[in-house]
Amino acid sequence: MNILTIIEKKKNKQELTKEEIEYVVNGFLKEEIKDYQMSSFLMAVVLNGMTIEETFYLTDVMLKSGDVLDLSSLKDKVVDKHSTGGVGDKTTLIVAPLVASLGVNVVKMSGRGLGHTGGTIDKLEAISGFKTSISKNQMLDQVKKIGVCIASGSASLVPADKKIYALRDVTGTTSSIPLIASSIMSKKIALGANDIVIDLKVGNGALMKDIKDAKLLAHYMIEIGKRYQKNVVCVLTDMNEPLGKAIGNGLEVKESIGVLKNHGDEKLKKLVLTLAGHMVEKGLGISFDEAYQKCQTNLENQKAYQKFEELVKWQGGNIDDICISSNVISLKSPSTGFVNKIDALKLGNLAKILGAGRIKEDDNIDYGVGFVLNKKVGDYVLEGEELVKIYTGKTDLLLEDVVSCFSITNNGVEKESIIIDVIG
Ligand code: URA
Repeated sequence: MNILTIIEKKKNKQELTKEEIEYVVNGFLKEEIKDYQMSSFLMAVVLNGMTIEETFYLTDVMLKSGDVLDLSSLKDKVVDKHSTGGVGDKTTLIVAPLVASLGVNVVKMSGRGLGHTGGTIDKLEAISGFKTSISKNQMLDQVKKIGVCIASGSASLVPADKKIYALRDVTGTTSSIPLIASSIMSKKIALGANDIVIDLKVGNGALMKDIKDAKLLAHYMIEIGKRYQKNVVCVLTDMNEPLGKAIGNGLEVKESIGVLKNHGDEKLKKLVLTLAGHMVEKGLGISFDEAYQKCQTNLENQKAYQKFEELVKWQGGNIDDICISSNVISLKSPSTGFVNKIDALKLGNLAKILGAGRIKEDDNIDYGVGFVLNKKVGDYVLEGEELVKIYTGKTDLLLEDVVSCFSITNNGVEKESIIIDVIG
């Protein structure tokens, strides 16, 4: 077997065998297959796809590249969640402590930014001292004590995903159903929860641009879940505009704290309550409506926020020290009208250029930079009124590029519902 024939086979749209997929992933891990060869293989998968069978083999070899967590020592049920990624997507920061505040364990392994989308781990690292890399025993110990842990996972959990994910981020190989399904499902299976809720984002700012592809991705993840006796629920959610108001690591932590204190953007809150509702439904074995209500109560009475404080403290962070740039530019609207569209993809990429994400694998993140939107789709704005605040010390930023992300028209537009569908 050799990597060139396997790349050639995928280039010619042929189905790969289990052995061939194992050869690629294990060879890449052992560094016998080089980054440039793996990038070429990944691009062939992006362009020509994989069957569910191939995607299952890919998931399985990634899963077997490391250890799995044994959750049998936990007395309360564990429920997991994952997002396929979007712009301004800070749901894990809110959902994980919220669900844990209701007695359902959350052992969460999160990622860094991918493509134009942000990553939970980068966001948490905007909190001074917050440790995201912890051993699996520490993860379990923390969950036993406080019911929640969010980590990048120890090096021993799904190392193949870490290495492939980092390469995908910088080689334009992010938007692919089999690559996303295997990346997410290998981590979810390794973490051991039987119930998994996926926030499957659809739209301009998501990896899945249309509902047809999003439904296919849901189908792949549900089918792969079944092979490991896992129950997967996919909540399809709108990502045609950034989620909430903040984009950028520290800014998103701050916005999450607002929601945990029951303030903030209504759509973001609705999404958080829906995801948490599905998790608590599974975790406590109650109806979705009852679970949703319980989640709402724990935002109102600040129990979710207290759990977040506990989480930050346990992982060494100082909640009073969140990195946010002190240089702020207020960008005004060039015209009067209704905000008809906000280009989430472009704003996500601009945030990355500001330093909120990586262009090269070894780039350092600037945790303090980003945007806070003062207007969202459907809002009325006057000429000269603030559209967005830009947090940056960079003076070479093209302000016109940021303004061009907002389309302002005379006609009002409906505010889209954040929840599109629930599958599974
Ligand atoms: N989240 C992941 O963990 N992997 C992907 O490929 C996309 C989103």
